[in-house]
Amino acid sequence: VRHFTTLNNLNNKEIYRLIEKALQYKNGKNCNKLSERYAINCFFEDSTRTHKSFEMAERKLGMQVMDFQPATSSIQKGESLYDTVMTLQSIGVNLIVIRHNQEDFYKELIGSPNLSSSIINAGDGTNQHPSQSLLDLMTIYEEFGAFKNLKIAVAGDLSHSRVAKSNVQILNRLGAEIYYTGPKEWMESSFENYGTYENMDELVGKVDVMMLLRVQHERHNGEKNGFSKKEYLKQYGLTFEREQMMKEKSIIMHPAPVNRGVEIASELVESRRSRIFTQMENGVYARMAIIDSILN
Ligand code: CP
Repeated sequence: VRHFTTLNNLNNKEIYRLIEKALQYKNGKNCNKLSERYAINCFFEDSTRTHKSFEMAERKLGMQVMDFQPATSSIQKGESLYDTVMTLQSIGVNLIVIRHNQEDFYKELIGSPNLSSSIINAGDGTNQHPSQSLLDLMTIYEEFGAFKNLKIAVAGDLSHSRVAKSNVQILNRLGAEIYYTGPKEWMESSFENYGTYENMDELVGKVDVMMLLRVQHERHNGEKNGFSKKEYLKQYGLTFEREQMMKEKSIIMHPAPVNRGVEIASELVESRRSRIFTQMENGVYARMAIIDSILN
């Protein structure tokens, strides 16, 4: 059985192969080949993009997609995640996509000798978001054709961002030059291993990719008091004035959902540099490539 839980256990060749496969799907590769397989998407944390683009990817691959609502499932009666997964496997589900607030939730599942369904990690707490990372890699590769020596900044709420953690590790490995910035209280010490801290004004004119992150108020334990959107944008965000300082070919990325007017000026979300909606489009193809690679 093959699973997709982190990009860290794939070598560079395997990562490039996934990117190429995703680009082939985007370019119209025939895909209706998993019609006898059943998928279920179990989201224990809220989601629009990841949930619906996994569903779209599964449908484009011809899979039978089943619905799962944690709020009306037997999780509410105390059934564990493990027993839930075993139940879904028993009724014939081949692929189980899971987002959960528990870091490494998948380790117990994939460690079981009784698991025969495939598991995809659609986000584990603040730890990793590997399918987002793959679609980000695809978007950068589509734009620049390479990662080596690209200057990439990751900006904002770093310590709560599973996207940032997944991305800096893999982009550093693929040869990109990583920079990070944001409020000191949301810094992530492990980032020192992958890149350099600079303030937003130093970074904005030199990077090829400005990757902004959402301020994740829901993970701040109610510390919203005193937070000023306007002040955050001014100190740490991508303002219209800063965007004017970016290099001609530089792009803006954001995993979304976007707090317009907080980490990015609202009018930049759909500006010529923004690849935010391209990332969402690419998410479907990246997820098709992931599912194809583990089920075939
Ligand atoms: N980027 C992302 O994971 O978005 P959702 O939370 O809407 O899935």
